Amino acid sequence: MKSANHTSLRRALLRWYRANARDLPWRRTNDPYQIWLSEVMLQQTRVETVVPYYERWLRVFPAVQDLAAASQSRVLKMWEGLGYYTRARNLHRAAQAVVEQRDGAFPQTAEDWQELSGVGRYTAGAIASIANGEAVPTVDGNIKRVLARLFEVESPLGTPETEARLWALADEILARSAPGDFNQALMELGATVCTSRPRCVDCPVQKYCRGCASGSPERLPRRGRDTVVKQVREAAAIIVRRSRVLLVQRPSSVLLANLWTVPAVDVSEVADGFEALREHLSWSFGLEVEFGASIGTIRHRFTHRDLRVDVYAVTAVRGRLRCNGSVNVAWVKRDELGEYACANVDRKILALVQWP
Ligand code: ADE
Repeated sequence: MKSANHTSLRRALLRWYRANARDLPWRRTNDPYQIWLSEVMLQQTRVETVVPYYERWLRVFPAVQDLAAASQSRVLKMWEGLGYYTRARNLHRAAQAVVEQRDGAFPQTAEDWQELSGVGRYTAGAIASIANGEAVPTVDGNIKRVLARLFEVESPLGTPETEARLWALADEILARSAPGDFNQALMELGATVCTSRPRCVDCPVQKYCRGCASGSPERLPRRGRDTVVKQVREAAAIIVRRSRVLLVQRPSSVLLANLWTVPAVDVSEVADGFEALREHLSWSFGLEVEFGASIGTIRHRFTHRDLRVDVYAVTAVRGRLRCNGSVNVAWVKRDELGEYACANVDRKILALVQWP
């Protein structure tokens, strides 16, 4: 596309954005902390889900110092339900770095933003263009789709060549006078018009779009190889004693790190899941238990794994709780459950507890 065309494309897109942008809370601020928070929340979560979390977060942690001073369990509790909890741990660590190592001063450039935990090229580009007005591109999933169609990029997503091409295109068409609005305009177009089933009649840049001209923009972008989804089976135990359920905290090295769950064991490779769970409770917690058939099966899809949890209610338990290894455990009353940060999958398991 010639540069004169780029100029009109930029104008058309910015005009459209300024007239049609959704009124989102992070669009009413220039505060780098708030914009950073929004971009981290939006990395893997939809706008409608993010809005209430974002607003609640800022009521509890209005400044980066409040976040830095909070405990990790409080931070995870505030993130509960958003998924991809590594984002919360990184955000917390990065807030501490801003306060302790940078005297509370935020980075000013995309390069500098990438020094913070959890801020990659895409997030850094978004924050620096929106909060600092730096003329840098950003390329998220929505923008990839828009660019692949606009410029009819036929090579599949996920290869280094395609990624480099898309970043180069984003840089080439960037409106350097209004980079934050321009990047958000591309995101907005991808989220509302240039969706998997595009509404080209409503598109402000249709006349520049080679994908639309080809007659089948929806075939783009071409997908790379599908990610391999691993099938994982777990057996989980609900142990209630004196009106309290036993919760354990996952270690910091695993999926859903540091979140609370009930005792469970991976039985994907095991013939007798029932027996494996009994052994796990004896070996890891010193508890000898009896239980009947499974009281429910919970399924949860993560990005790279399909989890199936067979849940067993323990009917009799002997032995004194002792932990083999440095795992945190707690006997928790029904009305205290809300104080523990649990993933959605664990809330589903806990809904099966039969309280006395
Ligand atoms: N997705 C990622 N960043 C966004 C933003 N600033 N506005 C809307 N959706 C987004």
